[in-house]
Amino acid sequence: MKFFIDTANLDQIKEAQDLGVLDGVTTNPSLMAKEGVKGKNNILKHYVDICNIVDGDVSAEVIATDFEGMVREGEELAELHDQIVVKIPMIKEGVKALKYFTDHGIRTNCTLVFSAGQALLAAKAGATYVSPFIGRLDDISTDGLELIADIRLIYDNYGFETQILAASIRHTMHIINCAKIGADVMTGPLSSIEGLLKHPLTDSGLKQFLEDYKKGN
Ligand code: E4P
Repeated sequence: MKFFIDTANLDQIKEAQDLGVLDGVTTNPSLMAKEGVKGKNNILKHYVDICNIVDGDVSAEVIATDFEGMVREGEELAELHDQIVVKIPMIKEGVKALKYFTDHGIRTNCTLVFSAGQALLAAKAGATYVSPFIGRLDDISTDGLELIADIRLIYDNYGFETQILAASIRHTMHIINCAKIGADVMTGPLSSIEGLLKHPLTDSGLKQFLEDYKKGN
């Protein structure tokens, strides 16, 4: 399972990279705005800064919603760095753009996916990654994990190579459950990744070991 961090915050990206388990980064326009990154040139520079911190894939989202605009922006983003994956929204023009990029050897991440049908379309168009937003589904009393399981089943039925990127992860149990279902990738905040390492028995066990060591030395 690949681990992506879902942020545009360079300090958090560095921290996750230093942990040694990071495979990539996902961003979106809201995450960029949260870090105060504004204006096209600053945004493009920020993507390059992120690529220089991590070794893996970095999703960069197009703003255009028409086919020509998405192609123009996506090609510009892909030129920035080898690690860039062009993030395209799941809309009609987006499906056309996904197919265009597939045919031109540019890797894509189909975002804002909330149904199995949308995920099927993304795979048909050759998306590299599909991003079902599980936290946002949970927010409206719909089981986000059930969607991951449905997509896994459909992709396995036909051998689709599109990787399931479980997005909108809110907490550690989302990661564990996505791993049980077989999501290829998860993207979440640093806190959700760090939550994986915490256990009170580890803390109390280590405390005891260190105390016992001190007694004998
Ligand atoms: C995915 O690529 C999105 O950036 C992200 O996971 C959305 O998460 P949110 O629902 O917490 O905003």
